[in-house]
Amino acid sequence: MTDNELIEQAKKARQSSYSPYSNFAVGAALLSDDGQVFLGCNVENASYGLTNCAERTAIFKAVSEGKHQFKKLVIIGDTVGPISPCGACRQVINEFCAPDMPILMVNLKGDVVQTSIGELLPYSFGPSDLA
Ligand code: THU
Repeated sequence: MTDNELIEQAKKARQSSYSPYSNFAVGAALLSDDGQVFLGCNVENASYGLTNCAERTAIFKAVSEGKHQFKKLVIIGDTVGPISPCGACRQVINEFCAPDMPILMVNLKGDVVQTSIGELLPYSFGPSDLA
């Protein structure tokens, strides 16, 4: 699975976005260690606060199907620069993804920035703190 293929998958996931309140569609594609791709979109709610972001949707789908090991995450939105995950998503990504696992932040213009949760959430609180 190439980066471009995973980006196309995230774009496809974005088309399922349920975002009638913000009209801001986001897609995510999460590659597991065994090569499976889990797609996610943002799912909004009339109560606003219950909105689930695309990244968390993809992660929760994968975890609910027994996958805990991941190789790559792509996030895509129609932003000026590459879309950056919110704080809540960073904490959830930190729970399941290695500090150096590639995260591709992408926009519809084709801008791509590769980062990692180690860069996005330094000095994090995570599973090892409770061990
Ligand atoms: N959103 C995501 O799904 N992922 C992000 O990384 C940023 C924000 C969603 C949440 C909400 O549905 C909409 O984008 C506007 O904030």
